[in-house]
Amino acid sequence: MAIKISDKVTWVGKIDWELRTFHGEEYSTHRGSSYNSYLIRDEKTVLIDTVWTPFAEEFVQNLKKEIDLNEIDYIVSNHAEVDHSGALPLLMKEIPHVPIYCTANGVKSLKGHYHQDWNFVEVKTGDELEIGKDNKLIFIEARMLHWPDSMFTYMTGENILFSNDAFGQHYASNKLFNDLVDQCELYQEAIKYYANILTPFSPLVTNKIKEVLSFNLPVDMIATSHGVIWRDNPAQIIEKYLEWADNYQENQITIVYETMWDATKKMAEAIAEGIREADKDVTVKLYNIGITDKNDMVTQLFKSKAILVGCSTVNKSIMSGTGALMAMVKGIGFKKKKAAAFGSYGWSGESVPMITEKLKEAKFEVVDDGLSLLWQPDDEGIEKCKEYGRQFVSKL
Ligand code: FEO
Repeated sequence: MAIKISDKVTWVGKIDWELRTFHGEEYSTHRGSSYNSYLIRDEKTVLIDTVWTPFAEEFVQNLKKEIDLNEIDYIVSNHAEVDHSGALPLLMKEIPHVPIYCTANGVKSLKGHYHQDWNFVEVKTGDELEIGKDNKLIFIEARMLHWPDSMFTYMTGENILFSNDAFGQHYASNKLFNDLVDQCELYQEAIKYYANILTPFSPLVTNKIKEVLSFNLPVDMIATSHGVIWRDNPAQIIEKYLEWADNYQENQITIVYETMWDATKKMAEAIAEGIREADKDVTVKLYNIGITDKNDMVTQLFKSKAILVGCSTVNKSIMSGTGALMAMVKGIGFKKKKAAAFGSYGWSGESVPMITEKLKEAKFEVVDDGLSLLWQPDDEGIEKCKEYGRQFVSKL
């Protein structure tokens, strides 16, 4: 199904309603996703990106209904990851000589993925491609947003920024445009995408947006490669990205914990009570690591000014979910967030010092040595946890 998004541009992508995980099992996609590909028909015909490999055949068949493939003059590959380049091998069998415009790193990535010597044309920031008497494409390298090869393509005349992954959301919708969808759903998916995928590159996000703004190009639409197109006030998502990239935090403390027989859970709830007693305004959220989606937790940690990580001690170590979450947040590299650890133990009690160490390795600002309690908390133990919560607030 092709959908015209402007006078000269048609969406020719794929909405993937069934997708529930992305990047293997690394990213949950509760609301599916889409792989947005765009066909520009001016004096020249240009295809911008394709779709993920499992949909290659469907994509090429649908494209043939829209256009004679031999009419395609240029292909632009803004990003080589397979969710955007996956249909290229099949497409290039039909039109093997059509030039593919991408960055130098794009050539390396595409060759690395497909081992084909296609007709690559390397482009750099500022390079232009004439596509009609009024319109041209301007390429803008967007290195590490979020791969080394990533690039934006700007179309003059219609003032469309094809931003690929940036500003995207894993969000399946038949509506296609930001003003037509539920705003809560849209922003939940946009912030989750930023928190989980772009946080490691936040300084580059800020610099790239400033660079693009310095070109003073009018932007009427941001056509992403996942989710909806920003056509209603596209500046809103640029402003959000600048906010999110600037060590974003809300007045929120998130407590994540993993528990075997609920002792650590009782500690978490008592600490939360102490926090609420000390600060009526702060939002406190609790998540059991063992039963909560990891990407949803990361999104909540992203929003937090401080976090508490609790875990029982097991086999002189921590539980597996907590270990995995700590590895994940270390990779993401949150900045300027306070943290501490807590947990219950039966005999050896290694969990709290181990989590404390992992929080430090992940560059959290650890405010104290944490709170360990032996066995199930009794009334005195619960009071200790509440007091710990009250004291935690005073250290922020
Ligand atoms: Fe949507 Fe980086 O691929």
